[in-house]
Order: sequence, then structure tokens, then C-alpha cells
Amino acid sequence: MALSTAFTRMFGIEHPIAMGGMQWVGRAPLVAAVANAGALGFLTALTQPSPEELVREIGRVRDRTDKPFGVNLTILPTMRPPPYAEYRRAIIESGVTIVETAGHRPQEHVEDFKRAGVRVIHKCTAVRHALAAERMGVDVISIDGFECAGHPGEDDVPGLILIPAAADRLKIPIIASGGFADGRGLVAALALGAEGINMGTRFLATRECAIHDNVKQKILASDERDTSLIFRNLRNTARVGKNVVSDAVVEILSRPEAQFEDVAHLVAGQKGKAVMEDGDLSAGLYWAGQAQGLIHDIPAVGDLVSRIVREAQDILRGRLDRLFADATEVAV
Ligand SMILES: Cc1cc2nc3c(=O)[nH]c(=O)nc-3n(C[C@H](O)[C@H](O)[C@H](O)COP(=O)(O)O)c2cc1C
Repeated sequence: MALSTAFTRMFGIEHPIAMGGMQWVGRAPLVAAVANAGALGFLTALTQPSPEELVREIGRVRDRTDKPFGVNLTILPTMRPPPYAEYRRAIIESGVTIVETAGHRPQEHVEDFKRAGVRVIHKCTAVRHALAAERMGVDVISIDGFECAGHPGEDDVPGLILIPAAADRLKIPIIASGGFADGRGLVAALALGAEGINMGTRFLATRECAIHDNVKQKILASDERDTSLIFRNLRNTARVGKNVVSDAVVEILSRPEAQFEDVAHLVAGQKGKAVMEDGDLSAGLYWAGQAQGLIHDIPAVGDLVSRIVREAQDILRGRLDRLFADATEVAV
């Protein structure tokens, strides 16, 4: 049986589970597998080298599924910004109706998507940013706690506080992101006021995820302590899997007067791509969150999603429901 929430009803999906955009990972076979599992997956626009390639990748998802899916557009401050407006047009003109935005100053993108009738989930890491996005007219907030892979922001507020703090202040539905990997997390997120969960790291260790097996094995071998926070002093904190490169970046940037230029050769996006594709774990950085400590297998996406939902239902109808029965026994 499915769990119905405001999130599943808004997007016409079966389960309250999303797979957020993942650079070098969010490609058609994985996104289609997530859609076919009844969850909501996002292609990552900037993984495609051009807007034209993105259009073709959207077509490849449609070849594999007729269920809902979306596209992630990540707006980051970079030296050479990609042609965001062209990617945005490609998404709209392809008839995609669901977008996940993330990053800095999404207003122009949100306005254009909304004019085109696209539903927008904006992912952010602070209640004040979520409120600003709500005022811009986004449909859902994906609130990303400090546990997450990627950019947790600078406030260091974990999901246990951030999710209910966001739920208290926002009128639109929220989904909870960062640190989720199983049915226990899904029940907790629902209890904290979210309408579903968003996962990244958990989906890396699935059969349909086309990253090198070395990275999947590394995630299985890692525990919840095996991440590094880099770029803290640059106020652009990122959580990555701990390896020799992340250790070197942390060490170099801890030196007085250290600048981004001192680590630029270590952190180039193409090196991260090499880790994911060639499996050389010392070639560069790879994004991974603390949820690594909860990941012990490499299931098919469909099995993972149904297991999470089944676990959640067992907790709700089993262990939690029995608390009432036990309380009655004490009372009589
Ligand atoms: C390999 C990888 C790449 C990611 N790339 C992006 C990205 O390009 N844009 C984005 O908005 N989020 C990105 N994320 C973040 C995820 O969409 C998601 O918010 C995050 O992984 C949730 O935390 P979790 O890993 O604990 O589940 C990435 C995460 C991973 C693991």
C-alpha cells in the first residue's frame, strides 16, 4: 500500500520519495528507474554538456518511462557560469513540468518556470531562504539539513531541528533532505512535518546508478564519520566523501591566508567526474553524506523504494501503534 501525502498528490507519484539532482550521476537510466519505482527522480541539467544534449537526455528518460520525473537546475557561483537561461529554455520547451532548483538567487529561473506552468521544488538549507523562495512562488521546499551531501550551507543546523523549524514557518509543503536512507528516516521526516524525503547518497549505491563500482563499495565500507567538510573558510561549505584529496583540501585551506586558488587543481569538477566514472578514489572529490553510515547494500532502485515504504509502514502500524496498546495495558 502506498503512503499518500501532499507531495505524492501534487506530483502524481506513488511514494513520498525523491531523488535530488546529482552532478555526473543524475542521468536517464537512473532517473527512469526511480520514476518506474513510483518515486520522483531528477535529471541533472548541468551533467549534460549542452542544452541540446539535455533535450536528448530528457527524451531518453521518456523512452524508458511514462511516469513523472523532473530536471534539476543548480545555480552556483562559478568562474565561468554555464548558459543557465539556455538550459532553462531547453527544460521548458521539452515539456518538462517538474523542476528542482538549488543554489544562489533562483528568482529569474523560478519566475520563468512558473510563467511556463512548471512546478518548482526549491532546495535550500535555511528557513530564511525557504521563506524567500516561498515568496517567489515555488511550490515545494526541499529542506536540506547539515547531514547532507553537497552544500549544507553555513548554519550547521541538522534535520532534527531544521525540518520542524521550516514546517512551522512555511505554508507550502516541504520535503526533508539530508541523511535519509531508510524507512525509519521516512517516518521521522513525516513526524517532523515533512510530506516526504529527498535522498542523494542512498541512490548512489543502487544497481541502476551508473557510477563505478569502486565508489559504491567505498560507500558501503564508509560509516557516518567518513565525510569531510571542505571550503568552510570560503563560506561555501561542501560535504564530500572523505579521501586523500578531501584531507589535502582541508589541510591546505586551514593554513592562514589560504585561497581557493591553492586547491583549485585538486577540486576541479572534471576530477570528480573521473572518480565517478573510472573509480579512482584518489583522483578527486566525490559528494557523499553522513547517510553512508546507514547504507549496507546495493539493491535495485525498485527494491530500495519498496523496502523503504514497507519499513515505514511496519514502523507506523507495528512498533509505534503498539505503544498505544502497551499504554492501555498499563492503564487498566
Ligand atoms: C554525488 C552527488 C552529487 C550531487 N550533485 C548535486 C547537484 O548537482 N545539484 C544539487 O542541487 N544537489 C546535488 N547533490 C545533493 C542531492 O541532490 C541531495 O540534496 C543530497 O544528496 C541529500 O543528502 P543525502 O546525500 O544525505 O541524501 C548531490 C549529491 C550527491 C550525493
